[in-house]
Amino acid sequence: MSDGRALARAYLEQQRLLGTDAVSLPPSGESPVDPVVTPGLRPGSGDHPAASTRSPAQPKADLPPAGLSYDPPARDLFAADPLQQVTTLAQVAELVAPCTRCRLCEARSHTVPGEGPDGARLVCVGEGPGRTEDETGRPFVGKAGELLTKILGAIGLERAQVYICNVVKCRPPENRTPQYDEIAACVPYLFRQLEILQPKVILAMGNTAAQTLLNTKQSLGALRVKVHRFRGIPVIVTYHPAALLRNPNWKKPTWDDVRIAHRLLDG
Ligand code: URA
Ligand code: SF4
Repeated sequence: MSDGRALARAYLEQQRLLGTDAVSLPPSGESPVDPVVTPGLRPGSGDHPAASTRSPAQPKADLPPAGLSYDPPARDLFAADPLQQVTTLAQVAELVAPCTRCRLCEARSHTVPGEGPDGARLVCVGEGPGRTEDETGRPFVGKAGELLTKILGAIGLERAQVYICNVVKCRPPENRTPQYDEIAACVPYLFRQLEILQPKVILAMGNTAAQTLLNTKQSLGALRVKVHRFRGIPVIVTYHPAALLRNPNWKKPTWDDVRIAHRLLDG
């Protein structure tokens, strides 16, 4: 199989995993054709895209409307808080490791500060570590993490290119939703990480991430399909991968959301 065809197949497999099935490929061996099946077009007729009046350079598909904007104060260089003094992700992780700012420190095995390269252009934010994450100290390494890796692959990103983290850095008992005071205690770490990273796009996965990054109580349903801003950085809201494992119907809308994020990354 040619490289191009192998890539196309991998891409289609990812689309299938995400519940998108609008495309098909002929069996290998046949001459390469445009794999996009466009219903209603008669080959050779005047309504074929090549003969249409559309300009050859496809205009960028429209982005969704602007949403909320949240601008928490940037770091205060004169504050005594050491978090305000650090300038690298590794230093933030060093401060998280012994943290006892909230009750979630009591049952944790490991803190899970987040991981990814310093220069990541995309940051994915989840809710909080689960069991596997608590055991390993790494974010999104359980079943939800496997799905996240596939979702990123679908927009051509390796997991290792993306910074992946959570709102709270310690596992809530029984994976319950973090409480308001726990989020309030922990969120300065996330905000500092984002300030250091200055990513091009933030993907907020699930209610906790979306509501925390946008300082709102609006539901995920109301927040999707808009370009919000956190300190000016575009924030796209989507379902949490763990929710997708429970409800596969949300895969298609999630695929739509990550494509919006992808367009913003490219733009
Ligand atoms: N769910 C999350 O929100 N974060 C993880 O790291 C793993 C599962
Ligand atoms: Fe500290 Fe955050 Fe862990 Fe609470 S959840 S102990 S604030 S690192």
